[in-house]
Amino acid sequence: MAAIVLIGAQWGDEGKGKITDFLAQKAEVVVRYQGGNNAGHTVVANGEEFKLHLIPSGILYENKTCIIGNGVVVDPKVLLQELDYLNSRGVKTGKLLISTNAQVIMPYHRLLDALEEDARGANKIGTTKRGIGPAYMDKSARIGIRIIDLLDKDVFEAKLRRNLQEKNTLLTKIYGVQPLEFEEIYTEYLGYAERIKHLVTDSSLAIDSSIRNGEKVLFEGAQGTLLDLDHGTYPYVTSSHPIAGGACIGAGVGPTKITRVVGVVKAYTTRVGEGPFPTELLDETGEKIRQIGHEFGTTTGRARRCGWFDAVIARYAVRVSGISDFAVTKLDVLTGLDKIKICVGYRVGGEVIYEFPQSQKIFTDCIPVYEEMPGWQEDLTGVRKFEDLPVEAQNYVKRIEQLTETSATIVAVGPGREQTIVRGEIF
Ligand code: GDP
Ligand code: IMO
Ligand code: MG
Repeated sequence: MAAIVLIGAQWGDEGKGKITDFLAQKAEVVVRYQGGNNAGHTVVANGEEFKLHLIPSGILYENKTCIIGNGVVVDPKVLLQELDYLNSRGVKTGKLLISTNAQVIMPYHRLLDALEEDARGANKIGTTKRGIGPAYMDKSARIGIRIIDLLDKDVFEAKLRRNLQEKNTLLTKIYGVQPLEFEEIYTEYLGYAERIKHLVTDSSLAIDSSIRNGEKVLFEGAQGTLLDLDHGTYPYVTSSHPIAGGACIGAGVGPTKITRVVGVVKAYTTRVGEGPFPTELLDETGEKIRQIGHEFGTTTGRARRCGWFDAVIARYAVRVSGISDFAVTKLDVLTGLDKIKICVGYRVGGEVIYEFPQSQKIFTDCIPVYEEMPGWQEDLTGVRKFEDLPVEAQNYVKRIEQLTETSATIVAVGPGREQTIVRGEIF
């Protein structure tokens, strides 16, 4: 039995798609458990690049079961577009399943996401405007529409009418925009239901029977630890639980079934959207990393903010998710820097702290305390063995391991599936 949870250990975009695709070689089942199409996971397989938003990154292998779990918010329009996109590129998607209980993103969620962001003005979160927050709000308010509801016309009609009544009051009275029409949405979504109904299943049961049959299951997190609704840089977070515990809730699997937790970290740090980021580099080094690392959003195209590796948040991610192994990605991007810095603590007023502070006001004011390490000039993208990396690069990875007390079992030196150094068994 092996059930591995793979999570982002920073602010998202750590390379989860690439590492999921790599580990999926040995898995039978790959499961997304939270988030929605705010995610953008890039996989480069056999020289071809694929950008996935909702469908698990195991889909490029024909024989893997891919499951969208109950914790995901599904925009059916985007899901169908993604299926069409994959099929048009020759990818077979016959082994995709969707949980009956996943929540559905409706047109009013997308609209409200944009209106709420505008209304926040200077306090905006910088959301992806995909309707994620409003969809999770309805889930918590217990008025959300689940995938299973789309399969029963009467249930769907009743739920949609009730929701529209409330949403149209909001849209017209608070935001002063036009109300949405029932008929149009009803017909559109019944059309989607027709196309996806054969994929809908009790995903918790499917995962359980796979685990019982000795199959290997890989849970693919979206976003990252510092974007977690409870454990992230609130309120500059997403509305779900990207940490490892989110897999149990979002897939309906008990914690005793999880055998390992892989935390994906970039060899530096990036963040998209607003919110505190102590090691952010606003100088030419930050710009250099952005250009060499192609740090532009997979989903929104926004320039990602770039900064040095932060060992304090990496250690925090180890704590809140019980990370057993790190996958350190994009080490190749740091080639060419004379000196590389690692943040080992934060200066707050007159003292230095070594743990992620609970107060976001304090976190915003944190000044990083850096350790400096020598850089390297060699191109790493062709290296396949850890011992073949320049000694400075090896030492950099080893220092990350010491500071986080966690083994960097995988090291990635390029976007391709084969550009991956494995230092120990994961599955
Ligand atoms: P995700 O959201 O965590 O799946 O990450 P994204 O796909 O949004 O962003 C990561 C980007 O880095 C993608 O363009 C990947 O193809 C690329 N990438 C992943 N690992 C590496 C690596 O080791 N080196 C380089 N140069 N690029 C990588
Ligand atoms: P992957 O899975 C990076 C960020 C947004 C914003 C905040 C809230 O590709 O790593 P939301 O639309 O979720 O309400 O936005 O979260 N965000 C991400 N940042 N990678 C992601 O996904 C993200 N998904 C959301 O930029 O700051
Ligand atoms: Mg991404």
